[in-house]
Amino acid sequence: MAGGVISGNSKAYPGELTCKVFITCLVAACGGLIFGYDIGISGGVTSMTPFLKEFFPDVYKKESEIKASSNQYCKFNSATLTMFTSSLYLAALLASCVASFVTKACGRKISMLVGGITFCVGALLNGIAVNVWMLIVGRILLGIGIGFANQSVPLYLSEVAPYKWRGACNVLFQLSITVGILVANAVNYGFAQIKGGWGWRLSLGGAIVPAIIFIIGSLTLADTPNSLIQRGKLQEAKERLLKIRGVDNVDEEFNDLVEASEQSKKIKSPWLNLLKRKYRPQVFFAIVIPFFQQLTGMNVFMFYAPVLFKTMGFGDNASLLSALITGAVNTLATIVSILLVDKFGRRFWFLQGGIQMFVMQIVITGAIAFKFGFNGNPGELEKWYSILVVLAICIYIAGFAWSWGPLGWLVPSEIFPLEIRSAAQSVNVSVNMIFTFFIAQIFLQMLCALRFFLFVFFMIWVVLMTIVIYLYLPETKGIPIEEMAGIWKEHWYWKRFVPVADEEMADVKDTKKDEDKN
Ligand code: BGC
Repeated sequence: MAGGVISGNSKAYPGELTCKVFITCLVAACGGLIFGYDIGISGGVTSMTPFLKEFFPDVYKKESEIKASSNQYCKFNSATLTMFTSSLYLAALLASCVASFVTKACGRKISMLVGGITFCVGALLNGIAVNVWMLIVGRILLGIGIGFANQSVPLYLSEVAPYKWRGACNVLFQLSITVGILVANAVNYGFAQIKGGWGWRLSLGGAIVPAIIFIIGSLTLADTPNSLIQRGKLQEAKERLLKIRGVDNVDEEFNDLVEASEQSKKIKSPWLNLLKRKYRPQVFFAIVIPFFQQLTGMNVFMFYAPVLFKTMGFGDNASLLSALITGAVNTLATIVSILLVDKFGRRFWFLQGGIQMFVMQIVITGAIAFKFGFNGNPGELEKWYSILVVLAICIYIAGFAWSWGPLGWLVPSEIFPLEIRSAAQSVNVSVNMIFTFFIAQIFLQMLCALRFFLFVFFMIWVVLMTIVIYLYLPETKGIPIEEMAGIWKEHWYWKRFVPVADEEMADVKDTKKDEDKN
C-alpha cells in the first residue's frame, strides 16, 4: 500500500467538502429523482378511478362492488395491477447487471446518461399509453433507466466525496429519491383533481421532467478519478482529483487510487471473484443489506400508501393527502441523516432506526387489528383513529428515512474494493430490485390473505436485521474508500475470511497464474 498519514486505523487524505465537490454530488444525486418519482407515482395513479376504469376495469368493478360493509383487506387484490407496478423492478434488475459492464468499461457518467435517456423514453410512452401493453413496455424502459442510474450514481458519489464527508454526500442520492417521491405524491394529488379524468397521463408523462434534469446533470459532470484511472486516463484523473479536493497536493490519495486500480487489473473476472472467500464479508452485505431494506416493509407505504389509506376508510382526497404528508416526513428525516450520518456513524443509525420502526409497527398493527379485526370490517372510523394511524406511519417512515433508506445505498457503495466494485454494486441493485418487485407484486395478495398479521411479518424481519447489523457490520465512517479492506481484518467474525498480507500475495500470484494459463 502506498504511504500516507495514518489516522486511527486509516489514512487521512487532505481535502475538505469544497463547493465544487458538493455541487458535483448534488448534480449526480439527481439520479435518485427518477427512481423516487416512479415509486411515488405508481401507487397514486393506481388509486385513480379513471385510470383503473381505462386500463384495469376488473379491479375498478371489484373496488366499486365491495361495499364499505365487507372485507376491505382484499379490494385491490389484482395480479395485472401489481404486474403494472412491479414489471419495472424486473427490468431494473436485469439492466443493473448490464450496467455493471458499462460502468466499468465506459465510466460512471455514461451509465448515468443511458439511464436518464431510457427513463425519458419510458415516461413518454406511459404518458401517451392507449393500452395496457404500452403501459407495461413503458415501465420496462423506466426500469432499465433506474437499473443504470442506481448502479452508477451511488458509486459515483462515494468515489467523488472526500472520505470524511462520504456519508453526507452519498445520502444526497437518498434525499433525491425522497424528493422524487414527494413531488410525485404532490403531482398525483393535483392531477387527480382534473375534471375529464386524464390527470394520470400528466402524472405518468411528468416523469420526463426528472429524467431531463438527470440527463442535463450527467452531461455536465466529469467522471470520477477512480474510474478515469481504471480506464488508463491518469493525467486527467489527477487534474480532476486536484479540482474536487481543492488542495495543491493530492499525490498520496492519487497514488493509492493508482495502486488500487493496478490491483484491480490483475483480476479479469470480477463476477467470478465475488465467489472468493476473501470477499465473503462484502458479498454478504451486498446481499443482506438490500434484502433487509426491502423487508422493513417501507415500500408497502411508498407504493400503496393511498391504496392503504383508502382501505382504511379514508376518502380519495384524504388518501392522497395523507400520502403527501408521509412523503414530506420521508424527505425531512433524510436531511437528518445527511447532517448526522458522518457524526454518529452507520451502525448507530441502523440500530436506532430498527428499534424505532419496530415500535411503530407494533402500534400500526395494534391499531389495524383493533378496528378492522380479522374480517376487515371497520365500521365508522373516528378522527382520533385516523390521526393515530397517520402519526404512527409518519414516525415509522422517519425511522426508515434516517437509517435503512440512505444506508441501504451508502454502505454497499463504500465497502466494495475497486476490483469488484461494479459487479458487487450490481448484486446490491439486483437484490434490491428483486425484493422491491417481491413486495410490489405480493403485498396486495398478502394483505388479503394475512390481514393485519402482514405487519407482524415485517416486524419479525426488522428484529432480525437489527441483530445482524449489531453482530456483523463494522463501522465504516471516516475510512477512505480504498482503505476499507482493513475493517474486516479487525472484526471478530470476518477476520477469519480475510487473508493476512502473505496469503494475500499468494492469492494475487495464483490469480495471475490462472489468468496466464487462460
Ligand atoms: C429504497 C426504496 C424506497 C425509498 C423510500 C430507498 O432507499 O431503495 O425502495 O422506496 O428508499 O424513501
